[in-house]
Amino acid sequence: MAENIHPIFDRLLQRGDRELRLGQKSKVLWLTGLSGSGKSTIAQHLERKLHNEGFFAQVLDGDNIRSGINNNLSFSPADRAENIRRIAEIANLYLNSGVITINSFISPTKAIRAKAAEIIGKEDFIEIFINTPLEICEARDVKGLYKKARAGEIKGFTGIDAPYEAPENPALDVKTAHKTIEESVDEIFEHIFPLISPVS
Ligand code: ADX
Repeated sequence: MAENIHPIFDRLLQRGDRELRLGQKSKVLWLTGLSGSGKSTIAQHLERKLHNEGFFAQVLDGDNIRSGINNNLSFSPADRAENIRRIAEIANLYLNSGVITINSFISPTKAIRAKAAEIIGKEDFIEIFINTPLEICEARDVKGLYKKARAGEIKGFTGIDAPYEAPENPALDVKTAHKTIEESVDEIFEHIFPLISPVS
């Protein structure tokens, strides 16, 4: 078999060629946190900010991905792992295209996030903890899901009757409780700016 495989890697454009074209370093910004912690909103504002600052960025978001490519997956532990595995593979494709992705998924366990980091590569996986206490997420209850989970209408809801393991050593721990969206976004932007800026 092997003698019939003719790799063409040397003729393919490399990630570096694309990064040069886009004028940036690509990274995977991995937002993790409870449902209702503000991940999606922060991701959207961060995407806009990066765009306005001249970067080429793309949000990948739980609710969107789960209604498309991952619409066959439930919230069982095994399906959550598969959800995140596929997303990490997608983020990896973007990474090699020179694009900065902002990934907004609960990604509830350390094992799941370690798997994502392994697929993407530790150098390029930037773990950002959207650190909003459960009480606040539940009080906000934007989607009304905590109420349903408390009433037993949703089983295995993260933070209620399914685990959320906070990252121990994230690249950034964004404590949102007393911050505006803009403040949280600015904190992330300040941190990642040197990582995504082209080497001059
Ligand atoms: S993950 O655990 O697999 O990473 P993901 O980020 O894709 O989750 O999807 C989370 C979103 O799905 C939540 O914001 C919420 O809107 C919805 N959802 C529906 N059922 C559940 C559940 N049992 N636990 C957590 N989120 C749920």
